[in-house]
Amino acid sequence: MERDVIIACDFSSAEATLAFLDKFQGGRKPFVKIGMELFYAAGPDIVRQIKARGHKIFLDLKLHDIPNTVRKAMSVLSGLDVDLVNVHAGGGIAMMEAALEGLTRPDGTRPLLIAVTQLTSTSEEVLHNQLLIGPSINETIVKYAQNAKAAGLDGVVCSPLEAAMVKDACGASFLTVTPGIRFADAATDDQVRITTPAKARQIGSDFIVVGRPITASPDPLASYTRCLQEFAD
Ligand code: C5P
Repeated sequence: MERDVIIACDFSSAEATLAFLDKFQGGRKPFVKIGMELFYAAGPDIVRQIKARGHKIFLDLKLHDIPNTVRKAMSVLSGLDVDLVNVHAGGGIAMMEAALEGLTRPDGTRPLLIAVTQLTSTSEEVLHNQLLIGPSINETIVKYAQNAKAAGLDGVVCSPLEAAMVKDACGASFLTVTPGIRFADAATDDQVRITTPAKARQIGSDFIVVGRPITASPDPLASYTRCLQEFAD
């Protein structure tokens, strides 16, 4: 898949999501991310409705369970015909291999599968003192990305500032999907390690995930177009 902007549709209902997507009718249909909030509120039907409107979908449910459960759950998600799904790399290589198996359809096709390495909300302090993981966050991210690659996954979700490190360790074709994007002249909200769409492109992100800079914009279509121009065109 080509470099693209993914809009994080962090809405709590199907109605709000579809009303937002109505703003893009007639033009390019954005790649959208559906997360836990919307999926748990509106169920698989919202995925089918958005797909039927012609959007690509990143279903961001971050699966993390025993391999057998993840295999079966992924087989269900694969039937929804989404384009990109994810798991927690913390589930280990066998779990990631099982996810890949479950996702693969009888005809050999499958959605792209990426792994969350360490959540950006996990600090060094939490890593060492609560999770009892000795190495640094960056060492952990690189090792988890390497595990994801060993399991046959297509890439990882990471901060754009970590994308170069992941590419160095796993190769240029290993995908990096990066949230934490803000325009140079805009509010940062609660994001800490942020960068602009243009900088994310320079660093080597394959997909940027952009939420509030587009969803909370007075003109979402204009903000989306600006993101595309800076990142993808
Ligand atoms: O509104 P904003 O652009 O901050 O939204 C970013 C999206 O990416 C949200 O859906 C958020 O949950 C997600 N995300 C993130 N940082 C991560 C992983 C996911 O911001 N490390």
